[in-house]
Amino acid sequence: MEHLGPKDIERAAAILRTGGLVAFPTETVYGLGASAFDGRAVAKIYEAKGRPSFNPLILHVASLDQAHALAALSETALRLADAFWPGPMTLVCPNPAPEISNLTTAGLGSVALRMPDLKLARDLIAAAGVPLAAPSANRSGKISPTRADHVIADLNGRIDAVLDGGPTTVGLESTILDTTDDKITCLRPGGLALEKVSALLGYEVEIAKPLDPDSPSSPGQLQSHYAPKVAVRLNADSAAEAEFLLGFGTTVEADLNLSRDADLEEAAANLFAHLHDLDHLAHRTGKMGIAVSPIPEMGLGLAINDRLRRAAAPR
Ligand code: TXA
Ligand code: MG
Repeated sequence: MEHLGPKDIERAAAILRTGGLVAFPTETVYGLGASAFDGRAVAKIYEAKGRPSFNPLILHVASLDQAHALAALSETALRLADAFWPGPMTLVCPNPAPEISNLTTAGLGSVALRMPDLKLARDLIAAAGVPLAAPSANRSGKISPTRADHVIADLNGRIDAVLDGGPTTVGLESTILDTTDDKITCLRPGGLALEKVSALLGYEVEIAKPLDPDSPSSPGQLQSHYAPKVAVRLNADSAAEAEFLLGFGTTVEADLNLSRDADLEEAAANLFAHLHDLDHLAHRTGKMGIAVSPIPEMGLGLAINDRLRRAAAPR
């Protein structure tokens, strides 16, 4: 696997154009990209991740024009795009363009679009000249990567290259909004706080109820997800003997702290890297689990708690 840097965008784009897989940074997490128009390349994503094939992928675009060419953006979708793109927001839109491989949309009559905020990501998409289908660059069910070395540890030998852009800044996957109905609903809380979406739309955006976990047709419906190897226990005041404590705020003596200042944006940015680090450390030192301090259920705390509940879910 090639370890590329920002100067190697042309090389990364060439790999993508010829049907290869390139992991690339965005402001949320690293994505595992392939040309969304190349069904065989997209198939390789599912293979590399070991991902259930019913789970559709997000298409990453470099511009609004590119988004328009891929689906029908409603008036409300355009308002959202205008306010929050580029950024950590994904819009599920109707009428996917016929060039998009069926594997990308999983045969649904809609497609998920996102314009990342990280310029390196948009430059790569523009250089490739095609929208990039990209789930998070981790094996299915594992913690999402926020650094190139996370990708390398998880996917080395299974993909063609990683484009290293340093650690991601938001650290949580995008907020996914369903725009196929007049009333917008949230399919996955994420890096854009839902309060901001509600404020723009003038009503409280609801989080869609999880579907039957055996037939996930919308995001992150698999119960156990983002799983470290050791057990995870939530809303902990302190760690047991065999646990590490992942703290939040100043009140606790933690092994690692998501944010000493109880800042939810800082906590989101640290979440996956801290889970990775404590998981590895637990393995080396024979600890059995990670206890996590309570996180307030507001702003980005909604998405942080969503990921933590999945990490703690029975496997
Ligand atoms: O921040 C992110 O969103 C990252 C970076 C790489 O952009 N990507 C990401 O992708 O988290 P992924 O594949 O791990 O999550 C995409 C979610 C999936 O849970 C999938 O079910 C949902 O989006 N999704 C994709 N297309 C959909 C559609 N047409 N309708 C409903 N849900 C869809
Ligand atoms: Mg993922």
